[in-house]
Amino acid sequence: VDLHSSSTGGEIEPAGFIFVGKEEDIKKSQRLTAKINGREIVVFYHKGKFHALDSRCYHEGGPLCQGEIEDIDGQACIVCPWHKFKITLETGEGLYEGINPLEPSPTPKWQSKGVKQRIHKITTDNGNVYVSPPDLSVNFDSDYFADKYKNGGELSM
Ligand code: FES
Repeated sequence: VDLHSSSTGGEIEPAGFIFVGKEEDIKKSQRLTAKINGREIVVFYHKGKFHALDSRCYHEGGPLCQGEIEDIDGQACIVCPWHKFKITLETGEGLYEGINPLEPSPTPKWQSKGVKQRIHKITTDNGNVYVSPPDLSVNFDSDYFADKYKNGGELSM
């Protein structure tokens, strides 16, 4: 794995991190897609924070870069444009609305399916935004589509 091949910024990067864009540009556009070792990720700037996730939805590979961000139960979620799955920006958890039939008067509540979408570490330094390469010793459902669309140039915003 070559950690240094994806840089386009011509900047000196914090060790192991890959330059994805300028802080002020991403703040303006609110989102962008980038390649990390050939893997496409999407970066969101939402309510003062940067988030980086695999760009293809863990469900069937929908383009999260085209989704809307919604607040669900106090958590910012990207809503997949294909089948409206909701994924938390902070943790990559898949949320679903479920009811507990054992409750006296069951009402739907948002619940987590666990972490489904791979989240990437993101950091800013001196006006630049960097993402660290994924730790592939841990698996997430979104890896399947990240691999499938890897280096496939057709995916963009
Ligand atoms: Fe994202 Fe189905 S592909 S919800």
